[in-house]
Amino acid sequence: MKTLLKGGTVVSGSSVFEADVLMEDGKIKAVEQGLQDQEAEVIDVSGKLLFPGFIDAHTHFDLHVAGTVTADNFETGTKAALAGGTTMIIDFATQYHGESLHEALENWHKLSDGNASCDYSFHLAISDWTPSVSEELETVVKEGVTSFKVYMTYTDMVLGDKQIYLVLKRLKEVGGITGVHCENMGIIQALVEEEKAKGNLGVSGHKNTRPAEVEAEAISRLLKIADLVKTPVIVVHLSSGAGYQEVKYARERGQEVYLETCPQYLLMDESLYDLPGFEGSKYVISPTIKKTTDSTRLWNAIRKDNIQTIATDHCSFTTSQKAAGKDDFTRIPNGMPGVETRPALMYNFGVLEHDLKLEQFCRLLSENVAKLYGVYPQKGAIAPGSDGDIVVWNPDTKWTISVENQVANVDYSPFEGTDVKGKAELVFLRGRLAAENGKVVLEKTGEFVPRKPYMELY
Ligand code: URP
Ligand code: ZN
Ligand code: ZN
Repeated sequence: MKTLLKGGTVVSGSSVFEADVLMEDGKIKAVEQGLQDQEAEVIDVSGKLLFPGFIDAHTHFDLHVAGTVTADNFETGTKAALAGGTTMIIDFATQYHGESLHEALENWHKLSDGNASCDYSFHLAISDWTPSVSEELETVVKEGVTSFKVYMTYTDMVLGDKQIYLVLKRLKEVGGITGVHCENMGIIQALVEEEKAKGNLGVSGHKNTRPAEVEAEAISRLLKIADLVKTPVIVVHLSSGAGYQEVKYARERGQEVYLETCPQYLLMDESLYDLPGFEGSKYVISPTIKKTTDSTRLWNAIRKDNIQTIATDHCSFTTSQKAAGKDDFTRIPNGMPGVETRPALMYNFGVLEHDLKLEQFCRLLSENVAKLYGVYPQKGAIAPGSDGDIVVWNPDTKWTISVENQVANVDYSPFEGTDVKGKAELVFLRGRLAAENGKVVLEKTGEFVPRKPYMELY
């Protein structure tokens, strides 16, 4: 099967150029001006931007957490991804206590294989560090799971400093890289006790118990541990200017630190937690959404290429699931949807309103992600030999984000009513048209993508 995209503007991480793109049997065959092919289906894409399929390296589908399970599973979550232009997600296969890493991976394969509409891969979240888990890591990496997550908070997931040190050391030996959820658990617990003693059990308690210092302290501690081990780390879902400052210090010391942030930390502010009634529960995520001054610092860092990737931390719960915390903010399941809207939000607010270059947008949502997580140039590039994952982007389409038009299995959109310009008009997954104007037209052809060890970004 051959498809020829004619007359578009191709965007890569380093250039923007006019070229036709020929796809054949799932792969990109040629990227040149003036291509002809009698056998190909020809699609006129003049006036459109062509991006390599976007990759969201931070989703939680089918995750059992806080006594419930996320509203989006692999079926609905990957459809939502595809509808918005994301052709690959990397989900967190999570080791529940007492499980081996291979049991966790088997669970995630059972949940995803045959159900996914976009391509997918797994990080492994380690919650139970034992000698046999340490042993397993070598084979896990060889099997193509080359990135890991450790949590510095959450009672079910947390690893202590000693364990984090040991994980980093072992992953350095076997060629894995670690993403870390940085928040100081002890301080959060103390602040929760103080808040409850004051009788504040409402949503604003969530904000009050997770100030920026909670993130900054944990980042600083993590980076000291990583410095001892002499290994790179990824700080995932960075939310604060104070946290970013700690990364700057570490980089000045010569450390290799990668940063991921998410649209909610760039486009929202903490006043949402003070909305009347229980409305603020929709935004209960961890780390919390911080102040406008934090977002400004993150935007500045993005513009200077000091943040490498933008993901979503899609971890959706319906409003009735959120209601579990109606009388106690600590019982609100943490997380919100995002996988569907990241490209449109970042195009509209990043490229159009915050002066991001198209190349930067491409790096943040696709090319850097592919490199950092070991799938470049199979993914993250429009080049001969790469997978035919292409987003035909209409830069002129104006639309409004709403629960009414979303694919994700949630009864609200955190960005309800937001007007944006720019939309994924056609989405190709390995050469086949898979989504059109926000609607999925090809279901459940997503494949597991084994990954190589990470590639240095600088
Ligand atoms: O609130 C969030 N972000 N929930 C998902 C789990 C995590 O920490 O990434
Ligand atoms: Zn996290
Ligand atoms: Zn997460």
